[in-house]
Amino acid sequence: MPPERIPPGIHNAIDYERLAAQHLPADRLAYIAGGCGWDRTVAANRAAFDSWAVLPRLLRDVRGGHTRLALNGQPFLHPFLLAPVAHQRLAHPDAEVATARAAEATDTCLVASTLSSTPLEAIAQAAGQGPRWFQLYLQPERAHTLDLLARAEAAGYQAIVLTLDASIQLASRSALAAGFVLPPECLAANLTGYAPSAPTPLAPGDSRIFQGAMRHAPTRCDLDWLLSATRLPVWVKGVLHPDDARALRAAGAAGLIVSNHGGRSLDGAPASLALLPAVRAAVGADCPLLLDSGIRSGQDAFKALALGADAVLVGRLQFYALAAAGALGVAHMLTLLAEELHACMAQAGCATLADITPGALLPCPCPCLPPFEAPAC
Ligand SMILES: Cc1cc2nc3c(=O)[nH]c(=O)nc-3n(C[C@H](O)[C@H](O)[C@H](O)COP(=O)(O)O)c2cc1C
Repeated sequence: MPPERIPPGIHNAIDYERLAAQHLPADRLAYIAGGCGWDRTVAANRAAFDSWAVLPRLLRDVRGGHTRLALNGQPFLHPFLLAPVAHQRLAHPDAEVATARAAEATDTCLVASTLSSTPLEAIAQAAGQGPRWFQLYLQPERAHTLDLLARAEAAGYQAIVLTLDASIQLASRSALAAGFVLPPECLAANLTGYAPSAPTPLAPGDSRIFQGAMRHAPTRCDLDWLLSATRLPVWVKGVLHPDDARALRAAGAAGLIVSNHGGRSLDGAPASLALLPAVRAAVGADCPLLLDSGIRSGQDAFKALALGADAVLVGRLQFYALAAAGALGVAHMLTLLAEELHACMAQAGCATLADITPGALLPCPCPCLPPFEAPAC
């Protein structure tokens, strides 16, 4: 068991990323840290945040400052959510149960993955009174999807997050090179009761992608069906194109998550942050809009909020903090993120999230601000 104490030298949330190699075997680290292909989109996500600077302001009174917000009427104390990340037993034996405890302790909304290594009911129990949403991958059999929805509703999840950008994911070259294979104890606990659908053999001339991997990929019909199959609000995750955003909102999505899956779906896709202003413009001011992919600090969150997001999700950082210090580490990482955001808001003269506007940012590259790299302690 990893020690349940905060490792020395952690002063910022991103320090957990730097320490990850000390707490994760090399093959697991390669799988988690890697994106897909040659990690170009992973790098683009970080570069996009570095392409903006924050403008400090003077003589602003921020003594009544706070970060409260509401998403579709659901209140939150801060704009950080825990992104759905699968197979958390790779990082810690307590896996999603530890993450859920940290979420409750920090009033953070947890988005539990369909592919969690702990059943969704046990995650909900560990999350206690804390806010929780369930991330859904549509299953090849609709009966199985309906069962997942019924289980999520019964376990008190308050929203469904439908992920649409990962029907096919290009392999990560770094995970392949490291020889990563998913261990059996990390398999998707939610799906063990569902018999796998029989594979349909490909006909001569069929494509392994079009007629193979994409055979069960969601279509617009599936989205309409899902929207009528649950009473919970349905968010859509994986939006990049403004036209898709407009269409999804018109179809009835409760909110959208601008995301490229942390660079894990299409290597060469643009940074999520780069598309955020265009998506916001496409859906208008009233559409609840979240962003993920590349968030490593409170200042990153500030930039995302300035460019149109209502809140952000944190993916890999939760894995790294979980590996380093279990529930305590995840709670500590979230506390650091919130404090970093408060500090950035105070410096920029913003007392509330509504005060964070595009005018708070200045485009870079700027000669005085090299790309950020956390120095070793
Ligand atoms: C190891 C790993 C597993 C993931 N599993 C899922 C998943 O099951 N469902 C999902 O919608 N997204 C999944 N994601 C994507 C995250 O929800 C999120 O979009 C991404 O991690 C954000 O980028 P960041 O890691 O740079 O914060 C996963 C990401 C990682 C790194």
